Amino acid sequence: MPATLPSLDLDPYSDDVLRDPAGFHRALRAAGPVVRVRQSEGLDLVALGRDSDVRAVFDDPELFVNSRGGGVLDLARDEPFREPGLLQENDPPGHTAIRTVMSEVISPRHVRKLRQQFQRAADELVDRLLDLRSFDAQTEFAEAFPVKVVPDAVMGAPHEGRGNLLRYSVFLFESMGPRTPRARRVLGDLGDVDAAIGWVRDSCLRENVSPDSFGALIWAAVDRGELTEAQAPNLVRSLVGAGVDTTIHSLANTLALLVHHPDQWALLRARPSRGKFAFDEALRVDTTVRQIFRTPARDTEIGGIRVHEGQKMMLVLGAANRDPERWGDTAGDFDLTRNAGGHVGFGRGIHQCVGAPIARLEADVLLTTFATRVAAVELDGEPERLLNNTLRGWASLPVRITPA
Ligand code: HEM
Repeated sequence: MPATLPSLDLDPYSDDVLRDPAGFHRALRAAGPVVRVRQSEGLDLVALGRDSDVRAVFDDPELFVNSRGGGVLDLARDEPFREPGLLQENDPPGHTAIRTVMSEVISPRHVRKLRQQFQRAADELVDRLLDLRSFDAQTEFAEAFPVKVVPDAVMGAPHEGRGNLLRYSVFLFESMGPRTPRARRVLGDLGDVDAAIGWVRDSCLRENVSPDSFGALIWAAVDRGELTEAQAPNLVRSLVGAGVDTTIHSLANTLALLVHHPDQWALLRARPSRGKFAFDEALRVDTTVRQIFRTPARDTEIGGIRVHEGQKMMLVLGAANRDPERWGDTAGDFDLTRNAGGHVGFGRGIHQCVGAPIARLEADVLLTTFATRVAAVELDGEPERLLNNTLRGWASLPVRITPA
């Protein structure tokens, strides 16, 4: 007999949980392998927070599908809020064919070529920060860098319009969760979302991508007959849609952890090339993509608990990444010397983040440059958490720096 589905009277989309999810994560892991959570906006959601169960679901993409949506909507039933992504909201064999092309586009050889231009951008940015001395690290550090280097690398879009990309990302990541009063307010304040969507769509067209960009490599795959004309803009879009805000908030989370843990900042200062390890450890301990969804294609059981076909299942990545069963008693500590390899902050399995090498290169170059040229970084005001249905980050992070 399958056991009864445990339930938890906590709403993962409440302001309190968005602000500080640690208590929710602990309660979720303790309650069972799969748990009904307090329902938000009439949804019927179950959640998984244990590392081993989250991994098992990632590892069975035939049973737990992506085509029914990476957010709360069930694309088999509900109207999508945008044209579904050909990578993220797709299953094998369609996903396999496209992912093969995209893995060739974002190959180690192509990513390596970006190092020089990323380094130039990091040098210029750190020059500017050293002039400012006191600044909001959310906008001036974490936002400034990916907004420059990611669109340059993906499509070479004009600089003036890039605010559209930030508005598009807020629309995308809020829309993956429920329309709570908070989310409705944020979406309402965004203004003309259609204009932002239009700007992103146009920037992905063949005639608008620059010749040395990932976008151009995607269009070249069309010329070789590996993709269709109709698929290319969707794939270019998937790189800018998934690649800007995720990196922004991961960089801010990393810097905030370093500011809050001077011993770890000292370790990084002693060896600035540890920047990339700081980034992965931050992704583990303060996971940026809070959760991603899977949907069972047929009735099944998880840890002896029945889950029915079509049940939207929330994989709570932040809970899995701090699971003491996997990470030991110090799971909640930020520790640069830990081997954080194997965290699920980039997902796992066939949908694991295709842009992770780009994000890691950004972090490596920026954090290493920053820690080489900055002796001290400290808070210069009260930081404020970002409340967002999908992403964990900061709304503001005022800091003061001292040059090395
Ligand atoms: C630190 C920054 C980033 C984080 C935390 C992150 C996180 C994730 C996660 C958790 C997934 C898995 C989704 C799933 O399993 O359904 C994913 C997939 C994806 N990411 Fe990232 N990502 C980051 C940066 C990037 C960048 C820089 C790009 C591109 C330039 C990118 C493009 C994508 C795409 C296209 C997918 C879908 C892959 C597929 O379904 O096969 N991401 N990302």
